[in-house]
Amino acid sequence: MITDKELKDKWFKFFESHGFKRIDSYSIVPENDPTVLFTTAGMHPLVPYLMGAKHPAGDKICDIQRCIRTNDIESVGDESHLTAFEMLGNWFLGECDKEKMIKYSYEFLTSPEYLGINKSRLAVSVFAGDETAPKDELAYNTWKKCGIDQVFYLNKEHNWWALGGGVGPCGPDTEMFYDTGKPKCCENCSPACDCGKYLEIWNDVFMQYKVEKVGEPAKLLARPNIDTGMGLERTVVVLNGLKSVYDAGIFKEVIDFINSKAEVKYDESETAKRSYRIITDHLRSSMFVLGDVKGVVPSNVGQGYILRRFIRRAVNHARNIKFDVKYFSDIIDLYVDKHGEDYKDIAQNRQLIKDELAKEVEKFSKALEEGHKEFEKVISGIEKHKQFASMKGEVVENIISGKAVFRLYDTFGFPFELTKELAQERGYAVDEEGYKKAFEEHQEKSRTASAGVFKGGLADSSYESTKLHTATHLIMAGLRKMFGPQVMQKGSNITPERLRIDFNLDHKMLPEEISELERFVNDAIAKEIDVTCDEMSVAEAKNSGAVGVFESKYGDVVKVYSIGDISKEICGGPHAKNTRDLHHLKIVKEESSSSGIRRIKAILD
Ligand code: SER
Repeated sequence: MITDKELKDKWFKFFESHGFKRIDSYSIVPENDPTVLFTTAGMHPLVPYLMGAKHPAGDKICDIQRCIRTNDIESVGDESHLTAFEMLGNWFLGECDKEKMIKYSYEFLTSPEYLGINKSRLAVSVFAGDETAPKDELAYNTWKKCGIDQVFYLNKEHNWWALGGGVGPCGPDTEMFYDTGKPKCCENCSPACDCGKYLEIWNDVFMQYKVEKVGEPAKLLARPNIDTGMGLERTVVVLNGLKSVYDAGIFKEVIDFINSKAEVKYDESETAKRSYRIITDHLRSSMFVLGDVKGVVPSNVGQGYILRRFIRRAVNHARNIKFDVKYFSDIIDLYVDKHGEDYKDIAQNRQLIKDELAKEVEKFSKALEEGHKEFEKVISGIEKHKQFASMKGEVVENIISGKAVFRLYDTFGFPFELTKELAQERGYAVDEEGYKKAFEEHQEKSRTASAGVFKGGLADSSYESTKLHTATHLIMAGLRKMFGPQVMQKGSNITPERLRIDFNLDHKMLPEEISELERFVNDAIAKEIDVTCDEMSVAEAKNSGAVGVFESKYGDVVKVYSIGDISKEICGGPHAKNTRDLHHLKIVKEESSSSGIRRIKAILD
């Protein structure tokens, strides 16, 4: 049995002995790549170097990179799919000596000092050639010279590598497979047919080309490279002849741990098994994201939304197997013990990972039972409707309306994908278009509700956003007290996670000024002041000293929100009832927004 640790150690020993320099894993959030949310391959963070920039560690490097791929998230729960994985890689930058790399690959795979695979158990594929690039005869012949019998020419679909977006460095590759020894599935059985005879373990990409713009043909790279990648978890499974990734290493440990605590046992049913695996996978991915140096937290957009989906889906599957979510934190400990060694940020962020996870779990757990009840109501509503309809000879389809799906999201925090999954389990579909429409309508409504003084403002009227909205009034009051009544709000944008407010000020705020402002707001919070609302005419509002833009577009009657005698603003609302609800404000950034306008970002913690 070879462990993942042994495989990693062998990898580095081999490549370091051949003059490759080991570099640290990059963040799981890619730098300057708006096309994807997460780092999807070992070569991903190295794209600038593959395109010609000089790498500080030299032109021969090796590493282990944490990656996340969510395109197969629905398949997690089977034997092999994972959303997070580690990829072993090595690179030649500015050099593309195929013979050398293939010989290295052969040596690492077959030498008894390394993987010791019998060469009769190896199969490889090489690029068959087309209008973009010629047949890779050099790769073919090199493998043959090494003594590999099973060398297959395959087409672009199988033996060409490019990044997801199709733009960037690319080229033909040679893939290495472990031949399980199963009989051929047909006369033309090859690694292309996915019958399970050949299992991929390694990929050497010869990056001789680049695509500059979508749709443009590939051009030769001035400085070609070699990029190789070996999926760690997958290779461990293959080399050990296991059936599933969940049967080895840390995954097995976590499954055993859950099995010791949950009421429904792992082997009880396929459904239970799936839930165990989803929890195991999603908590590991959550750990990679939360513990990352870039510090992503759950939210409704981007990486934060994927993280939220991981966590909420894990909570829901814990419910399926009657596994108490309080043990999530022990699972995080198992993962941090395991991965902290390779990823220092993860080791350092152990507590933060657990705290952020617990917060999100708590937030969702509260609504989970209610949400399930609501879901059941929706289903039984449709069932009743179906009965009536069938009496009239009509047919009603098993589709949950977009409105109902949106309500589950908005009120109970069920991410769209979760409702879809629950629906599928019951033989129902969801109306995705209708959901999107309901979502947009809701956004539109809250935009109008908060239009007015509150320029831009509140993206939604959730409890979290409402509190942040009240915090912006306190911030404005503080700024005006500190710098004078000429300071006005110039814009604002609030999400349930944070507030952003722009205002005019002639200088960058000093650290002491930021602390003073924070103190001002937190003192007001501590005083537990009621937030009150009065309706009056614009003239009355003006006379009462309320702050705001006095334009007729607000109509004759306006709302004036007051926070004791600290703040009085014309505003559409909504607001918190009492400042105590805000708990505590933290300013996370003060920066320039445009000339003469400063911007503050703050959170409530
Ligand atoms: N980029 C290639 C892959 O992901 C090799 O690293 O397979």
